[in-house]
Amino acid sequence: MNVSVSGTGYVGLIQGVGLAKKGHSVTCVDIDRAKVESINAGVPPIYEDGLKELLAEVRKNGFKATDDIRQAVLNSDITFVCVGTPSSRHGEIKLHQVRQVAREIGEVLREKDYHVVVIKSTVVPGTTEGMIELLEEHSGKSYPKDFGVAMNPEFLREGSALDDFFSPDRVVIGSTDKRTRDLIRKLYEGFDCEVVETNFREAEMIKYASNALLATKLSFINEVGNVCKRMGIDTNVVAKGVGLDHRIGPKFLRAGLGFGGSCFPKDVSALMHKATESGYYPRVLRAVLDVNRDQPGKLLYLLDNKLGSLSGKRIAILGLTFKENTDDVRESPSLTIIKDLLMEHADLVLFDPMGMPAVMQLFPQLQYAQSAQHAVHGADAVLLLTEWPQFQDVDYGDVYVLDGKNVFNTKDRRPKNYEGICW
Ligand code: UGA
Repeated sequence: MNVSVSGTGYVGLIQGVGLAKKGHSVTCVDIDRAKVESINAGVPPIYEDGLKELLAEVRKNGFKATDDIRQAVLNSDITFVCVGTPSSRHGEIKLHQVRQVAREIGEVLREKDYHVVVIKSTVVPGTTEGMIELLEEHSGKSYPKDFGVAMNPEFLREGSALDDFFSPDRVVIGSTDKRTRDLIRKLYEGFDCEVVETNFREAEMIKYASNALLATKLSFINEVGNVCKRMGIDTNVVAKGVGLDHRIGPKFLRAGLGFGGSCFPKDVSALMHKATESGYYPRVLRAVLDVNRDQPGKLLYLLDNKLGSLSGKRIAILGLTFKENTDDVRESPSLTIIKDLLMEHADLVLFDPMGMPAVMQLFPQLQYAQSAQHAVHGADAVLLLTEWPQFQDVDYGDVYVLDGKNVFNTKDRRPKNYEGICW
């Protein structure tokens, strides 16, 4: 099938390269010329395990990027909208990018026979219906007679996005039009998973409810962890015992500093905002965000207790990204901790296998080590703030190690002078 993908962030680029690998003819579109050139030169603008190699492979078969949305839509049967939906200060999502792309696609549809537009950006319930109105207004045509529209949420995790793309747990196709659904089903033929057909709002809500439930699991285990810590109970042993119940499952029960990244904080806030707007105040979601916001403070409390005044103390921070296997530092709890430690005049040395370039732009005045081992040398305390497995191999000697991300999940191999945030 001929596919165009608008937006080359995590979602769009993985979707484009993934579908190209599945044999479709794909063109990715972005307004950012630098990104387009980078993709066409074989250099992905984001880091994702295996992406560079796969990009090289699919480029040989015609995969390309362009900033010309008109040509991309004209030459394709289906367009995925994968542009960003950033948060406002109040937590609601901003839709200007999705709207702009819908307008542009609408104009192109004037010159085109049947075409399917699929919203893949994470958007709150009701948004896709609004996009149909925009498409009709700008194309002069009508849904579903002249063009199809669907909502097809993504469930990719950064760091394992390609695996998630090729082995999804489910594909959700939200549309009120059978012709559209059939076309998307055909596109995803060969994926070994259940396909869930829904209307637009159900598909939009499945995405939010999934992320909100995972975030709830995390704040829940962190709350249990905070109680366990006070009572001298090892939260990890508790999480293991709880997770063996097949109704609960072992995943997303690793307690720690809380969740970061570009999705959970933003999506839970957006769902809260939408719920409140609809007249319902979501108490569980509020608590999920509150617990998450306070978690870095728990780590700082333990550090204060151990070192007394932090002024002039040398603190090694290992881990800057919001999780392992990514260079993404958006909403990373590390950033909150760095700011707080700077207010206490601590002497910081930072290390992360992939996140240093991004943090250097935010804190150019700080010291960055060439390795985790170098950072630890001469430190009064070490903070483990990302779950990079290689931090298990550092020789910490006698230095106090405070683990915020469950790097040392089990008791074996823990450093001599070790403490966990909630275990
Ligand atoms: C998340 C979802 O897992 C994806 O399904 C979804 O598609 C994506 O958001 C999105 O909406 O785009 P992601 O943000 O990449 O994916 O990362 P996760 O692996 O879910 O981790 C989120 C945060 O939770 C990280 O800070 C991680 O360190 C933390 N976490 C995760 C824990 O603290 N404990 C755990 O047991 C698991």
